[in-house]
Amino acid sequence: MLDKIETYRVTGNMVALETKNVNVYIEIFDEGIINIDVAFGSKDPYSQAVVIKNKDIAFDVSEKDDCMCISTGLLRLKVHKDNCNMEIEGRYGLKLDDIELTLEESKRSCAIKIREDECFYGLGEKTGFLNKRGAKYTMWNTDCYEPHTESTDPLYASFPFFIGFNRYGCYGIYFDNTFRTYFDMGKSDSSKVEFGAEKGPLSFFFIYGQTMKDIIKGYTDITGRIDLPPIWALGYHQSKYSYYPQSEVEQLAKTFREKGIPCDAIYLDIHYMDGYRVFTFDKERFPDVKAMLKRLKEMGFKMVTIIDPGVKVDGNYSVFKEGLENRYFVTDSNGLPFVGRVWPGPSCFPDFSRSDVRKWWAEKHREFIEMGIDGIWNDMNEPAVMDTPSKTMPEDMIHLNDGQPITHAQFHNVYALNMAMATKDAMLRFRPNQRPFILTRAAFSGIQRYAAVWTGDNRSHWDHVKLSIPMLLNMGLSGEPFCGADIGGFEDDCSEELFIRWIQVGVFYPFCRNHNALGKREQEPWAFGERAQKIATQFIKLRYKLLPYIYNLFYESHKNGMPVLRPLVLEYPGDEKTYFMFDEFMLGDSILGAPIYEPGKTIRAVYLPEGNWIDWWTGKEYEGGKYYLVEAPLDKMPLFVKAGAIIPMAEPVSCTADGIKVKFHVFPGVAQAEYVYYEDDMITENYKNGKYNLYRIKYRKDMDTVKIEMEKLYYEYPEGQKGFRVVFEGGEGIEKILVNGQQVNPHVIDETAVAIYVEP
Ligand code: GLC
Repeated sequence: MLDKIETYRVTGNMVALETKNVNVYIEIFDEGIINIDVAFGSKDPYSQAVVIKNKDIAFDVSEKDDCMCISTGLLRLKVHKDNCNMEIEGRYGLKLDDIELTLEESKRSCAIKIREDECFYGLGEKTGFLNKRGAKYTMWNTDCYEPHTESTDPLYASFPFFIGFNRYGCYGIYFDNTFRTYFDMGKSDSSKVEFGAEKGPLSFFFIYGQTMKDIIKGYTDITGRIDLPPIWALGYHQSKYSYYPQSEVEQLAKTFREKGIPCDAIYLDIHYMDGYRVFTFDKERFPDVKAMLKRLKEMGFKMVTIIDPGVKVDGNYSVFKEGLENRYFVTDSNGLPFVGRVWPGPSCFPDFSRSDVRKWWAEKHREFIEMGIDGIWNDMNEPAVMDTPSKTMPEDMIHLNDGQPITHAQFHNVYALNMAMATKDAMLRFRPNQRPFILTRAAFSGIQRYAAVWTGDNRSHWDHVKLSIPMLLNMGLSGEPFCGADIGGFEDDCSEELFIRWIQVGVFYPFCRNHNALGKREQEPWAFGERAQKIATQFIKLRYKLLPYIYNLFYESHKNGMPVLRPLVLEYPGDEKTYFMFDEFMLGDSILGAPIYEPGKTIRAVYLPEGNWIDWWTGKEYEGGKYYLVEAPLDKMPLFVKAGAIIPMAEPVSCTADGIKVKFHVFPGVAQAEYVYYEDDMITENYKNGKYNLYRIKYRKDMDTVKIEMEKLYYEYPEGQKGFRVVFEGGEGIEKILVNGQQVNPHVIDETAVAIYVEP
């Protein structure tokens, strides 16, 4: 509880309330976005996660007998004069009482009363189920090699953001504190959710809107959105700890092509380096990297190399020497470099809080990138340290932070974010106009602006297939759409059945990579024999078929922050059956998947929300709002398309470099539908200069006549595809088709589909 308000001031978008000890700053960013900061002195600066800019926004401040009232068009915040406790009312029915703020020497927190039937979502990379109510989490980036269980916490990434949701409305909180923070979602006291920290600012954003989608949009207004990835980054990726020597890498690539299994990227893990020295290649294992890259490129492969932050202590190693001479490494308070053990043995760690160090680190990538390395994989960047009690660097290490030194306690959670900034800078610098691809293990809110995130060292356990679904769903709700778990499981030995079930769900992960630990049973798509290879190939091809749809979902995310992989509750917030649903997912708003994550199971209950749904495999139509028992023999994962969906698809190719030819599939079941399709070159940064097309495709069915209209909403990429096939699934009964008003003759594909050709 705080003291009573003595005076208040309004300057620009800021309302400052002063009490005897502390000040409460309320900054209005938008009608539904306000920052509340409680500080002993002046307002706390925002962290690097925050990119939202101030704009002119109308708001009203009024003083009542017992409270101060601040209102925007969407919400009203009441601050009680006697203790600064708050109440918030939202225009669409939200009411939050008893918001209690605490700011003491070693405790800062905010507690909010939990509403009736409230669910909590978000919080980024956390294990457990979809709804986080009743659990408590810590945000402290941590390398966790132990098997991840429902209660394992913290993990590698910190997203101090959650959504409170019930049928009366929703809100979001982003706690802008990079120190170790906690989120108690009603565990210690079931009547309230409390977030806080021992150190750092009590500065949080309150986000309000009508729907959960508005909250995510608001959160990504604050922390930024993803740039469009290059299309190859959305293909299937193959990784292992580690593929070497060079001949094995080339053989791997050839095997994919020989077996006709699509694959876009191969990863080199730490064994490619000379004694784990970053930015080097082991000359014996990789005698001619350039030639290897050339041959891989000819086969349509991209190459991603791992780069860890630890720089080997070695007086003969140029990266170490430069870092030491220029004092680029993190030091203790006496200025002595911190040395900790990681893969290369004793190592020093670049101080990524400094812009000169980020620049230096970016420069170190020059040779790799100019040689033809296409993507960079940042790992161990929590940073993980093997020989300290905390498994990271001590919290009193110093980061110089461009002249405003801070301790590691403050910088720890954003160490990886800053490393990713440097890496993205390198990719943009040395591959001008090409879209960067970066994968990171550790992360903080805002990471979506720089990198994809994978969920670290999972295991070849059935439980980890199950765990991956809510984990990725919540990461998507937390602003990071580009996320995935190691398909097949990293540690431990995978089995044929587990691999099959994993690849079936894995092809729907926004980031789709098979990765495997050192010395474990091989898990390439052919490693488990013919049956598994056949099924894996079929599902990887399904991903390639869906690539245009997936790419368009990334565009949506780039525009408004929407996740690619979505929990059902995001699309059906009025349906209570979806509130806890963790084991089904939606890809965008039109495809629903229900993975199998238990051995021996060949049938499962699938809930289909309102509307009609079409079985992907059989074309059978189901009425929504019900549960069904759906057959799932080993070669099938239950998969449904929303009736009336228009889905851009492609013919599967062996890699995206082969080109993607888009056609639209119209699924039956409704009288009219429309879809907005985004098109660009999928590889360069030209879309940022407006070089793209937007089409609207409209479908209308009257009796036995179908009308298709395709119009250009925006057209600045004339090199795009000239015409599109439109395929009517279940279209055998269609007699007459009008395209932009002209009658055309459909082409019969088979007994279930007909197609036409449309030029917009
Ligand atoms: C870490 C990573 C894993 C990688 C290994 C070796 O355990 O999480 O993906 O393969 O280090 O680099």
